[in-house]
Amino acid sequence: MNGKALPHDSKEMLSMLAYMHWLSQDVPTGMEIAGRGFIRITAPEPPNKERGEKIYVEKCALCHQPDGQGQHGPNGETIFPALWGDKSFNIGASMARLNTAAAFTKANMPLGQGNTLTDQEAFDVALYFTQQPRPDFAEKSSDWPDGDKPEDARY
Ligand code: HEC
Repeated sequence: MNGKALPHDSKEMLSMLAYMHWLSQDVPTGMEIAGRGFIRITAPEPPNKERGEKIYVEKCALCHQPDGQGQHGPNGETIFPALWGDKSFNIGASMARLNTAAAFTKANMPLGQGNTLTDQEAFDVALYFTQQPRPDFAEKSSDWPDGDKPEDARY
């Protein structure tokens, strides 16, 4: 969402299409698959940014770095993705939304230790990182034309 669209006939686009086609072989269209996505959670009490920052420092900064910029290889390739700043997902990404970020974090982070944070901790740390500066989304004005804007959208 925060890069340049690939040409439809590029090698990269065709490779991704082939991969997705391979992933979905034998799966009927529209069918839900076990293990896809993650379970939605709710915060027992209002999320708190200060608590979130402490969790971030203790459990996330090792990989995503204290400044949230992640770690990148010599050719700019991502080793650990940035959670905020120029290299991170933009404000239009689902991950920029508190409820999605909390549910993803709860299920998958810290890497290799999914489901070790409480629901409250997942919301606290998600509030901390979703509210950091990140790239804008140029097409945001065309989002939710029917007025069905989610409650945790940032714009
Ligand atoms: C051991 C290293 C490690 C730790 C610790 C870790 N992460 Fe991650 N995180 C990763 C990696 C690697 C990815 C990319 C995973 C992938 O693409 O499948 C990732 C991805 C993410 C993403 C998705 C980013 C995107 O661009 O979509 C979020 C959000 C995230 N981590 C949050 C956290 C939070 C919050 C914590 C602390 C509770 C945490 N991570 C701890 C390694 C780590």
